Amino acid sequence: MRALLTKVEQDSRLDGAGDRLQKVVLGTLRPRRLRDLLHGVTLGHPLHPAMVQVPVGAWISAAVLDLMPGQRRPATVLVGLGTVSAVPAAVAGLNDWAALARDQRRVGLVHAAANTVGMALYAGSLAARLSGRHGMGRALGFLGLSTVSLGAYIGGHLAYKQGAQVNQSVSELHRMTDGWHSLADMATLPQRTLITREVDDNISVILYRHGDEVTVMLERCPHQSGPLGEGEVQEIDGHACVVCPWHGSAFRLNGGEVVQGPSGNDQQVLPTRIQNGVLQTRLP
Ligand code: FES
Repeated sequence: MRALLTKVEQDSRLDGAGDRLQKVVLGTLRPRRLRDLLHGVTLGHPLHPAMVQVPVGAWISAAVLDLMPGQRRPATVLVGLGTVSAVPAAVAGLNDWAALARDQRRVGLVHAAANTVGMALYAGSLAARLSGRHGMGRALGFLGLSTVSLGAYIGGHLAYKQGAQVNQSVSELHRMTDGWHSLADMATLPQRTLITREVDDNISVILYRHGDEVTVMLERCPHQSGPLGEGEVQEIDGHACVVCPWHGSAFRLNGGEVVQGPSGNDQQVLPTRIQNGVLQTRLP
């Protein structure tokens, strides 16, 4: 299975369908606020993995009830709940998928296809149960559960092997040594300008001075490792934010909260102090 998914990552034959679907998703989910909501910007975490808990929980519970006598009615309710709640979860997933790298989109396409088949099987299961064909409803339900389990496995590959929608910058902290690190002489640090510096010679951070306050933030964008130091500073909702040059995620310079997707994760801001006129930073 792992070898097969590695082949999927490299299979350019999926790109035609993927590119067409991406256009449809981006053309349909146009309002930025809606896209940000679906990315999980308001939560500070991706929304799709949280939303799938409802259909998965309902469908697994229905499967357990299907193995017990006299549970047709609650099992039908749970299959209906799972099928209806899978729709917004799928929309959130498609929204994240449209902002992934090409190799991730290929695997994501197979993940979405498996789950679409699973949802169709559950819709058939619901229809069969509502028309009194409970044996057929149970059979389609078990088939649906097998298919969405395969989809979940592929989703796990996408998230944990390929790093889709996980925080790409946080591992920088694990490489940073303890103690204070000197970054810049305050006398020469310009106002309201993004400056890039390195900690431990290989961890890039950005500096942004506003008055006597200086923000120090990891440079690598949590979405896909874009260089925030090459981004712009913009005022968004009354806050100065750094906007990633790759896909437009924006993070508040005062605190690191994500205010604009596709990143669903906040950016890490580092503590600072000034010693003898020198700006220093350390691990949080
Ligand atoms: S790398 Fe995608 S928004 Fe920064």
